[in-house]
Amino acid sequence: MYVKPQGGALPQPLGILAAMAVEGQAIEAALAVPQSRVILGRPVVSGLLKGHRVLLAYGGVGKVNAALAVAALADAGAAAIVLVGTAGGLAAGLKTGDAVVATDLIQHDVDVTAFGRPAGFIDGEMAGGSADADLSDRLVAAVTQIGQTVRRGRIASGDQFVASQIRSREIADQFDAVAVEMEGAAAAQAARQLGLPLAVLRWVSDGADDQAADDFPKFLAHIADLDLAAVKAMIV
Ligand code: ADE
Repeated sequence: MYVKPQGGALPQPLGILAAMAVEGQAIEAALAVPQSRVILGRPVVSGLLKGHRVLLAYGGVGKVNAALAVAALADAGAAAIVLVGTAGGLAAGLKTGDAVVATDLIQHDVDVTAFGRPAGFIDGEMAGGSADADLSDRLVAAVTQIGQTVRRGRIASGDQFVASQIRSREIADQFDAVAVEMEGAAAAQAARQLGLPLAVLRWVSDGADDQAADDFPKFLAHIADLDLAAVKAMIV
């Protein structure tokens, strides 16, 4: 069972989960004494970042991959997990490059409404979960420290790259979500079931609108450095 570190220390080893290699590559390059292995089919690199023990997993895109990657990090001994990467912005005022730190996360493609259940709920509970408050506070402070704008709110996740104004409005309105991506709520559900605290940091790469497929790849040039800067700032 997870025991919160005394004296407000950042949990160690800190698991960092990136769906795509490009999202974690600067963190990996910054690790001292890196050691790689494969757990549950996922590459996991352990090492030291500013002297803090870190486990970096590349999970792959989508919800099943995210859940397996959380299990891999748990198996490797992670004491907590921070998921980093990109998201489509839904909330008014969010700009490309702004950060979103999740308060809670829900799977927008879970739908048993045919049986009178609320959208995004399964077996009587939210398909997703709350983010760890302490880790999320640390992420907000870290993003602020590196000079980026940050917003907190609900993130909606699903196995869909949202590239339509109509669909993004539906998700925002139905779930009161500020951003949409493809892993967070599945990672939150898995982490909750495994008793691991988890927080999610997403950088807005696009507006989940009809331009999203053009905007998203252009933003990938920035993602590795932003993830590294935020994670380093988190480790004080
Ligand atoms: N990740 C980044 N942008 C996204 C989008 N528009 N839909 C789903 N996941 C994303």
